[in-house]
Amino acid sequence: MALAYFNGKIIGIDEPVIPIDERGHQFGDGVYEVIRFYQGKPFMMKEHLERLYKSAKAIKLEIGKEQEELETIMLQLVEKSGLADADLYMQATRGIAPRNHLFPTCPASISITVKPARELSQDVRTQGVKVALLPDERWQNCYIKSLNLLPNILAKQEAFEQGCFEAVLVREGIITEGSSTNVFIVKEGRVQTAPLSNHILAGITRMAVKEVAEELKVPFIEKSFTPEELFQADEVFLTSTTSEVLAVTNADDCQIGDGRPGSLTMQLHKGFRQKTR
Ligand SMILES: Cc1ncc(COP(=O)(O)O)c(C=O)c1O
Repeated sequence: MALAYFNGKIIGIDEPVIPIDERGHQFGDGVYEVIRFYQGKPFMMKEHLERLYKSAKAIKLEIGKEQEELETIMLQLVEKSGLADADLYMQATRGIAPRNHLFPTCPASISITVKPARELSQDVRTQGVKVALLPDERWQNCYIKSLNLLPNILAKQEAFEQGCFEAVLVREGIITEGSSTNVFIVKEGRVQTAPLSNHILAGITRMAVKEVAEELKVPFIEKSFTPEELFQADEVFLTSTTSEVLAVTNADDCQIGDGRPGSLTMQLHKGFRQKTR
């Protein structure tokens, strides 16, 4: 059963709880994480928590709970939900205070939802997805997992309206990442993705895929690439907590490779799935 949590209370998923002056609601003044649970166990929880605290620090947000305490709350919530495979979303915001841009002195708000994991259809997995290349209109601090997702949402919607699964973002002639994914190309047996910087989110799945590539002795290169390099790649794939490793078979109506999910992509996905057990 899906469940939620808001500032100390476990509640029903549909219960209205966010006060009008909550700063996440008013300003998007907060950070978040998405953690996938496989068979009741969180995948890379420590890494997600570390990224959360790093994001919070970057926006000068005091979460007001130790990492372990927050972890315990999340584990208890998932256990109570009875869900084995779940998507957990948690948001930490600067709390509830009369609307004013300046930081309030109130404690942070913590909200969490736990829902059945969304699985991509078998068709999507076996056929791969289409992507659209769109301008990266985001700010300079994309390493922060901020609640402000308007440019990401607009890009994803535009991609969807073009019949695509994801928007691949281009900043100054370089591919940064997807609207909610990291982007990889494969050329001559080498996997390449943008290096960590303030222009991309340091994806946890990206980190896991790097480990899998190293285990498989597949060269893994962290170097920026252009749209042209993507169109001419042997394989392209996306990674994220909810999509795992997902083949891209078409970008801006240009077929990638032979138009089917690439073998290295599938191998990396298999290796990733093994890690989640
Ligand atoms: C902009 C962006 N990049 C990359 C990712 C992938 O990150 P992760 O693998 O940690 O889910 C996400 C996930 O939501 C994202 O929003």
